[in-house]
Amino acid sequence: MRRGSRSRTVRPLIRAALESIEPYEGGKPIEEVEREYGLDRVVKLASNEGPFGPFPIARQVLSTQSFELNRYPDGSAYELRALLAERLGVDIDEVAHGAGADGVIGYLSLALLEPGDEVVFGWPSFASYMLDTLKLGATPKPVPLRDNRYDLEAMLAQIGPRTKIVYICNPNNPTGTMNSREELDAYFERVPEHVLTVIDQAYFEYIEEPDYPDAIEEYFKPGKRVATLRSFSKIYGLAGLRVGYAVASKEICAALAKVRPAFDLSSTAQAAAVASLSGDDAEAELERRRSYNRVAIAELGRILRAFGLETVGPAVANFLYLDLGVDSRPFYEQLLAQGVVVRPLHGFGAPTAIRVTAGTAEEHALLRQALQVVRPGGRSITA
Ligand SMILES: Cc1ncc(COP(=O)(O)O)c(C=O)c1O
Repeated sequence: MRRGSRSRTVRPLIRAALESIEPYEGGKPIEEVEREYGLDRVVKLASNEGPFGPFPIARQVLSTQSFELNRYPDGSAYELRALLAERLGVDIDEVAHGAGADGVIGYLSLALLEPGDEVVFGWPSFASYMLDTLKLGATPKPVPLRDNRYDLEAMLAQIGPRTKIVYICNPNNPTGTMNSREELDAYFERVPEHVLTVIDQAYFEYIEEPDYPDAIEEYFKPGKRVATLRSFSKIYGLAGLRVGYAVASKEICAALAKVRPAFDLSSTAQAAAVASLSGDDAEAELERRRSYNRVAIAELGRILRAFGLETVGPAVANFLYLDLGVDSRPFYEQLLAQGVVVRPLHGFGAPTAIRVTAGTAEEHALLRQALQVVRPGGRSITA
């Protein structure tokens, strides 16, 4: 046999499904921008993390408790799941943890999707619905938003016999808009039995609108086929530790346990999440953050509008979305050079838009300064 003759029959190592995938690009870290642009003050208004950091009680636990870091964490995250189950009024076996809500989206995809299965979601929306579907060789069915909101009627029309998952991002990242109880009620009247509806409520604790539904109370408990996603990355300020969860049927949670890596949540992540839920001050801290955000989001809107940047709405979480009508990357890069990191949205299906997260008054002042020299075409006024 001639050398090399076998190489012609070697199968490609990498799965064909990955060919069309652009890896998820997160918001740029502050340190990287400081280094690249030689700046000593950079503000990040890019990843909806909020300006607060962990709850004081979680900080205290992280800095004072001695974790046995030579030991593996509890792979079942028992204490955290038990606490969540008690707070939410569900069974512990109806709570499935993950490395962020994003981790849970990955496990849901792995547990449910065969090549050729279909996944319906609104678009532009959270990039993982698209990416995790493609990774498994399943077929994404992105449905255009209507008036920057999820169009549940149009999504129902896209559901077919091979549809396994429908994602409803409520409120939608990146537009910040929500669907009402009435719209979701009407959706659940018509969605076929074979579909799992995943309601992503990563920003749940921020929302104050009376017609915003609590998917666990209003759909899961009455028996709809629904998984609700929540996160500790947003109002709880633990994005760096990666904690999220789903509330879903025991059958779904058991399937997620089969695909989840054995020790997905570090001991520090579990302890910080438990502390955030159980501190005496937890409810008051949530309310403080909500009311701070109420003021901050209004201020952010005023600043952007003062520079002719119209945001879409009503936006109900801690971020605003604006469509520039031209490629948003030059504008994003000019803002970076001024020390302000916002989020261009090419990976979310909105290449002409950016998303800006509400920050502190000082961070907003820096944004205002930057907008005095940068314009949406991407040209700096001083350039
Ligand atoms: C709608 C939505 N779902 C899920 C996530 C992921 O959250 P986590 O940090 O818990 O993975 C995010 C984060 O930006 C989000 O906006």
